[in-house]
Amino acid sequence: LISLGGGVPCNVCGFVASTMYRGLDLVHLPTSLMAQCDAAISHKQGINGARGKNMVGSYFPPRLIAVDVDVLHTLSSQLIADGLSEVIKHALGQDASYCDLLLEYDGKTDDVDFLETVVNRNIRLKCDLARDDPREEHQAMVLQYGHTVGHPLEHLSGYRLSHGQSVAIGMMVAARVSHLMGACRGELVDLHGRLLARFGLPFEVPFDIRASDVIDALKYNKKYLCEGTRMALLSDVGRLWAVDGEYAIPVSDDVICLAVEMSKEDEPCSGELQWSRVQTVA
Ligand SMILES: NC(=O)c1ccc[n+]([C@@H]2O[C@H](COP(=O)([O-])OP(=O)(O)OC[C@H]3O[C@@H](n4cnc5c(N)ncnc54)[C@H](O)[C@@H]3O)[C@@H](O)[C@H]2O)c1
Repeated sequence: LISLGGGVPCNVCGFVASTMYRGLDLVHLPTSLMAQCDAAISHKQGINGARGKNMVGSYFPPRLIAVDVDVLHTLSSQLIADGLSEVIKHALGQDASYCDLLLEYDGKTDDVDFLETVVNRNIRLKCDLARDDPREEHQAMVLQYGHTVGHPLEHLSGYRLSHGQSVAIGMMVAARVSHLMGACRGELVDLHGRLLARFGLPFEVPFDIRASDVIDALKYNKKYLCEGTRMALLSDVGRLWAVDGEYAIPVSDDVICLAVEMSKEDEPCSGELQWSRVQTVA
């Protein structure tokens, strides 16, 4: 089975390939930045359900992934920003020098050399982790950075927020959770804001999404079923916080609620999502 397209075709074909005839050979030809940088380089295949993201899915490795950055030239600036959200995730979570590269880059985000650099770097960073920990249960949990709260936001927004935008806001909330729990310095929270603004990504929770709804939606996260909410959190750039060798950090609803409230827009933007304001400023 060959997938051709963005992250959604990757994940849908991946799930179908994992179940048809108890498994078909899977090839990905990813065409969005999100898919080239992240979704195609994954054993995690999933389909969204009525109650949340990836409610149905499987772990299944592709046989081959063929990436050509030339296909990215037809992407809109919004779709490039979406992919850059996962690029920022890899940089913050795995590689301080990658953060510096992104902060210092002052060219256009659709420049093909820039895109080739980030795609190459992301693939290498992700493969390093996914090879040894394909289910993302240990060190590779860093790949879920920003997703614990990002997924509920994406779902609660009725998918008005894209995956990349939701992860961007989710990373900001995660940074605040880490700071509230005393695991990181305030500078790390500031760095999140600078990186996300630089690439036109949002970092505030939309005004119309209530913290209590986020807490309710978190209950549809698989980890919640057995252990309550656990999050991948950073103690510094490139450093996943571990407690007694465990990377899935238990976080109380109160702390998440506070971090969401601290991250909220001050006022509704006359029907426009806050991120469009950030894009204008950036
Ligand atoms: N399994 C994983 O590890 C993993 C990782 C990251 C993201 N994801 C999933 O990926 C999805 C998001 O990926 P996405 O943003 O690619 O979504 P998508 O597949 O919906 O693509 C977004 C849009 O880009 C368009 N598009 C794709 N390639 C294009 C091109 N070359 N030129 C112009 N338009 C193009 C598509 O037609 C679509 O309208 C989410 O559902 C997310 O959950 C999964």
